[in-house]
Amino acid sequence: MEATELRNEVHHPVPSVLKNLYSAEQIRDRIAELGREITRDYEGRDLVLVAVLKGAFPFVADLCRQIPLPLTVDFLGLSSYGSGTQSTGVVRITQDLTQPIEGKDVLVVEDIVDTGLTLRYIRENFKTRAPKSVSTCTLLDKPSGRKAPIEADYAGFVIEDHFVVGYGLDLAGKYRNLPYIGYFDPPEDACVP
Ligand code: IMP
Ligand code: MG
Repeated sequence: MEATELRNEVHHPVPSVLKNLYSAEQIRDRIAELGREITRDYEGRDLVLVAVLKGAFPFVADLCRQIPLPLTVDFLGLSSYGSGTQSTGVVRITQDLTQPIEGKDVLVVEDIVDTGLTLRYIRENFKTRAPKSVSTCTLLDKPSGRKAPIEADYAGFVIEDHFVVGYGLDLAGKYRNLPYIGYFDPPEDACVP
């Protein structure tokens, strides 16, 4: 196999209104920093990463490999959006955890915190399951969208009021497979390929 093929440089055709925000390299470097911070904070604890599906799947895959601790990974399927770019504010569980989190140090792994309604829902829901602690790590934080007064404990990048896609983030289910993060400019041109 050629060396270039091993480097995973796949061309993804996207509309020209999609502007780059964070490159694959920037994302990788920031996740390495987050991993070091989390490793320091969770040394000697009973860590469970709970990734919120679907958006956090690439993030948790990369993040967990930067945390050299004896952790476990579980998934929580949640849906807060319809097929558009505005939050409906209605959160529902589409797939529950597979293991109890009682007595565990839970780190919720999110793709983005926008209104904060999803995070608030998770925190309320987890209270009844008696974990030892619950913290949150989000790749992106969009503070301008906040409706619930809630913050993540770890945030990769704080972004402006853009609708972003790529690296797990979708528009009507599409674009999750982009290795970088982009936004639509103008926003009205957000279109489903
Ligand atoms: P929140 O409940 O409004 O904080 O948003 C949580 C979920 O909304 C995220 O996990 C995403 O799935 C989705 N979301 C929020 N903003 C964006 C965006 O800019 N692009 C794609 N999905 C988004
Ligand atoms: Mg989504």
